[in-house]
Amino acid sequence: MASPWQKGLAAQRIEVAWTWASPSFEHCLTPRERDRYLRLRRQADRNAFATGRALLRLVVGARMDVEPHEVVVRTTCVRCGSTSHGAPTVDPVDGARAAPHVSVTHAAGLVMVAATDAGPVGIDCEPLASALVPGFADVALAPQEQATLAGAPPGALLRTWVRKEALLKATGQGLTTDPREVLLSPWWGPPQVLSTPSGIASTGWRLTDVDPVPGFAGAVASASPWSGALELTLGRVDLGRSDVRAALAGQATQGA
Ligand SMILES: CC(C)(COP(=O)(O)OP(=O)(O)OC[C@H]1O[C@@H](n2cnc3c(N)ncnc32)[C@H](O)[C@@H]1OP(=O)(O)O)[C@@H](O)C(=O)NCCC(=O)NCCS
Repeated sequence: MASPWQKGLAAQRIEVAWTWASPSFEHCLTPRERDRYLRLRRQADRNAFATGRALLRLVVGARMDVEPHEVVVRTTCVRCGSTSHGAPTVDPVDGARAAPHVSVTHAAGLVMVAATDAGPVGIDCEPLASALVPGFADVALAPQEQATLAGAPPGALLRTWVRKEALLKATGQGLTTDPREVLLSPWWGPPQVLSTPSGIASTGWRLTDVDPVPGFAGAVASASPWSGALELTLGRVDLGRSDVRAALAGQATQGA
């Protein structure tokens, strides 16, 4: 019998949760994650990393129907093979629902997590007030994309950039791929992938702008093997709530 998506009926569901980085989640990290946390020099980066892990475990735990501290997050770098950085993945848990594909982003205090059962996903956000280094467009965008920015309003470059970074995160490549080799549709229209370098499929991607709060541009990229509708839910999670904090407690005993 044909699966619902083969009939084109099923929607692709992506859950996006966001929160503000807080200094309260170091204790939720595994020993390995705490090593990484301590290697970060700026306290703001430490807060963003720890908050990202807390939000990720909360979202994934709810989806898998396990406690947040039971969620094992792994990272593997496609460039050097290190397991201390790279795209996050979630381990299956015996008897629980399937582990979703996930992605994490944090910038200027905003922390976002995307989760979906549908396939690889990537999320990125940037504050619109980002002070971009001179020449950023030259190293980030293809010439055709730069051409669309002539006379564009502030934010157009960042809009293109977060779409592109979300896609590169969904592939797991991140910036090991030269972003100029990815060509996206102009910033003013619905985002589409026009071409990609070898090693990255040029079709089957879905890009969606996600702007949870004013002052930030965000985007989600997902592998989309079917043409059904996209159902994207976007919600703020208050990690300061006492029940949420209680659910997150106990992380330090987990070994991964
Ligand atoms: C990570 C990256 C994709 C985006 O960075 P950014 O916009 O500054 O940061 P964001 O907050 O949006 O994203 C960071 C998150 O992306 C995730 N990430 C890291 N590498 C990733 C990859 N290759 N693919 C997908 N996601 C990745 C991580 O979850 C990370 O957050 P965490 O460290 O708190 O878990 C980019 O900086 C990058 O590719 N860096 C690594 C380059 C590399 O591999 N160098 C070789 C090292 S040996």
